[in-house]
Amino acid sequence: MTDTKRLRIAIQKSGRLSTDCQNLFKQLGIKLNLREQKLIAHSTNMPIDILRVRHNDIPGLVMDGVCDLGIVGENELVEMQAERQRLSLPSKVNKLAKLDFGYCRLALAWPQELGLIDKNWFQDKKIATTYPAILSEYLTRENISASLVNLSGSVEVAPRAGLADAICDLVSTGATLEANGLMQGETIMESYACLIQSPTLDCSNKSALIEKLLPRLKAVKQAKE
Ligand code: PRP
Ligand code: ZN
Ligand code: MG
Repeated sequence: MTDTKRLRIAIQKSGRLSTDCQNLFKQLGIKLNLREQKLIAHSTNMPIDILRVRHNDIPGLVMDGVCDLGIVGENELVEMQAERQRLSLPSKVNKLAKLDFGYCRLALAWPQELGLIDKNWFQDKKIATTYPAILSEYLTRENISASLVNLSGSVEVAPRAGLADAICDLVSTGATLEANGLMQGETIMESYACLIQSPTLDCSNKSALIEKLLPRLKAVKQAKE
C-alpha cells in the first residue's frame, strides 16, 4: 500500500532514464527492492516509495502533488508545462537539481533518401512528434507553417507508415533514427534529466529528508567530475 507519510518519487518505468535513476538511488544510499513490473517500490531503509510510471506522466504527478519528487527530462517538463497551462491545470514545480545523465536532443529528422534539406522544405509538410508545444514554438519562430501529427510513441515509424513527412523526436545515441532510415537535422532543444519537487509539498518530515538527500546528491555529482 502507499503511505502518504513516505516521500514519493516518480521515475521512468523503462527507457532512457530508468537505469540511471536506479543507480542514483543506490549512490544516495536508498535501498530498494525493484522487482520488474511493480509500480511501487518501497525503500527498506528510508521512508521513500518509488513510483515507476511512463515518463510523460511524471511532470503532472509532481505538479498535482500526487508525487513529492520526480526525475524527468527537461524537455518533458517544458512540454507538459505548456500543455497544462493550455488546459488551466497546475503547472508549477521546483527544480531542485540538474542531474548528470539523460542528455538528449530534441531534433528534426527526415527520411535519409531525401539527403540534406533546408528549413524551407518543412513548409506545409506534416511533422510527427510527442512534443507539439516545443515544436510549435520553434516553427512559429522560424516562420514555418507545417502541420503537426501528435503521437505518444513510435514517432520514428511515422514517415515510413505514411503518417508524416518528417519527425521531431528525442535523439540520444542516434540508434533509433539509424534503425529507421532517418537523417538527423537541427536541434530544437537540448535536455538533461532533472530532479523536480512539488510546490505543494508541506510536510516537515519529507522536507527534512529532502534536505538530507540533496547534499548527498551534490557529493555524488562531484565525485564523478
Ligand atoms: C526516445 C525517443 C527514441 C529514443 C532515442 O524514446 O523517442 O525512441 O529515445 O534514443 P536513441 O537515439 O538512443 O536511439 P524514450 O526512451 O524517451 O521513450 P519513448 O519512446 O517511450 O517515448
Ligand atoms: Zn505499499
Ligand atoms: Mg522512443
